[in-house]
Amino acid sequence: MSDHTEHVPLRDRLRAIRMFDTDLPGFDPAEAPDSPVALFTEWLDLALRSGVPEPHVVNLATADVAGRPSSRFLILKDVDEAGWRFASSSASPKGRDLAANPNAAIACYWAKQGRQIRARGPVVPEPPERSAADFLARSPDARAEALAGGQSEPLDSEKRAVAVAEARARIAADPGTVAPDWTLYTLQPESVEFWQAARNREHVRLRYTREGSGRWTRTLLRP
Ligand SMILES: Cc1cc2nc3c(=O)[nH]c(=O)nc-3n(C[C@H](O)[C@H](O)[C@H](O)COP(=O)(O)O)c2cc1C
Repeated sequence: MSDHTEHVPLRDRLRAIRMFDTDLPGFDPAEAPDSPVALFTEWLDLALRSGVPEPHVVNLATADVAGRPSSRFLILKDVDEAGWRFASSSASPKGRDLAANPNAAIACYWAKQGRQIRARGPVVPEPPERSAADFLARSPDARAEALAGGQSEPLDSEKRAVAVAEARARIAADPGTVAPDWTLYTLQPESVEFWQAARNREHVRLRYTREGSGRWTRTLLRP
């Protein structure tokens, strides 16, 4: 099937994509709550009510000891005053990055609402019992895959099939089985930024910065 768009140079096809050409929610930073957690909760609830697809998918950027960055998407598990939580294998590349360099950044973008949220700060692993609780709340398939291990290693289909079958059998025999490397992490934000697109490009940016006292200061930024 062809609509002839392939004859238009890619850069022109990219430039032709319309941005922020829809009804966008308003954002009055003067009305923003004292804490970024409260504002995130407000924005997430509106995203859910508005049918934003998968608003809990966030990008996590890490860097290795040499400062080389990597990023990937993850599921956000919770947000509270302690931080932004996600879960993964500590034996994965991101887990190794975080062990060597605990500084990371999270970002999400909700196109339907022209909203971006970013947070950066150190990441700490939660205690084993909290990681285990997260693991046990996953679906049986997701648990078997994580228990089989080897995330991001080159795929050997036969070995994977054997490892996943073994993992399924272990979980069936003992539903309390937990992958020892599965880790719930908390990004403890030093700053959190909320970005609201406007059709006329007068985008609004509000950054919360955590002070030593634990209180947050708010700063408007140029878009
Ligand atoms: C929508 C989406 C959600 C994902 N959620 C997770 C997750 O919660 N935890 C996880 O370890 N990987 C998740 N992944 C896979 C990661 O993006 C990534 O491929 C994997 O964790 C390996 O990353 P690494 O090699 O940088 O360690 C998700 C991928 C997508 C596209």
